[in-house]
Amino acid sequence: MQVPPGRGRRPDAGLAVAQYRRRAEHYDLELIAFEPVRRAAIARLELRQGAAVIDVGCGTGLSFAPLKERIGPAGRIVGIDPSPEMLAQARRRMQRHRWSGIELVEATAQSAVLHGRADAALFHFTHDVLQDEAALDNVLAHLKSGARVAAAGLQWGPAWSLPVNLFVLGAALYSVTCLAGLERPWRLLTARLRDAQVHTPPVGGYYIACGRV
Ligand SMILES: C[S@@+](CC[C@H](N)C(=O)[O-])C[C@H]1O[C@@H](n2cnc3c(N)ncnc32)[C@H](O)[C@@H]1O
Repeated sequence: MQVPPGRGRRPDAGLAVAQYRRRAEHYDLELIAFEPVRRAAIARLELRQGAAVIDVGCGTGLSFAPLKERIGPAGRIVGIDPSPEMLAQARRRMQRHRWSGIELVEATAQSAVLHGRADAALFHFTHDVLQDEAALDNVLAHLKSGARVAAAGLQWGPAWSLPVNLFVLGAALYSVTCLAGLERPWRLLTARLRDAQVHTPPVGGYYIACGRV
């Protein structure tokens, strides 16, 4: 699918914050259908007990439970997100579960000040971040050599896959500020990784990509 020229061609973090201000309260329900994709993406991180993970665009913290299952009580999660409303939901989730070892950074992935180097990074449904080279460079600079990275999100299907593409268009207009790059959303990320692999179903709609720094 082609995006009209000039429309949503660059990520806009201010617009994203406004978008997620409206969605934060009911966001978790909207993502239920994609939970198997989240689990599959997290499995590709091959996390060990005690690992440190950067959850880029962590939103309401829906990935925290499956990450914690793998990294255990000694593990650490750094969640980055510019939306105060999404992070407020993440904080509520942390309090409800009495989780420790999670640090929330209210910032864009481009500007987040990170310390040390993590064992893995997750980009789950963060299309805007994946289209921004500065954001990728900032996150990847804070990963250990050999660290695993996984990304998942929306992708155009083949031209014949019309119902899927209508769904992707609707979901993208609602969820991202940059419509460019939906053909191969992982492109800038996998160019920075070794042993990159991408899985897409034949009808398209979503992808899971992974590799090593
Ligand atoms: C579709 S939600 C995904 C949330 C979470 N990763 C999940 O899987 O449920 C996209 C998230 O990316 C965040 N976001 C948008 N632009 C960003 C940026 N430049 N840096 C970091 N996060 C960003 C939004 O605030 C939002 O919480």
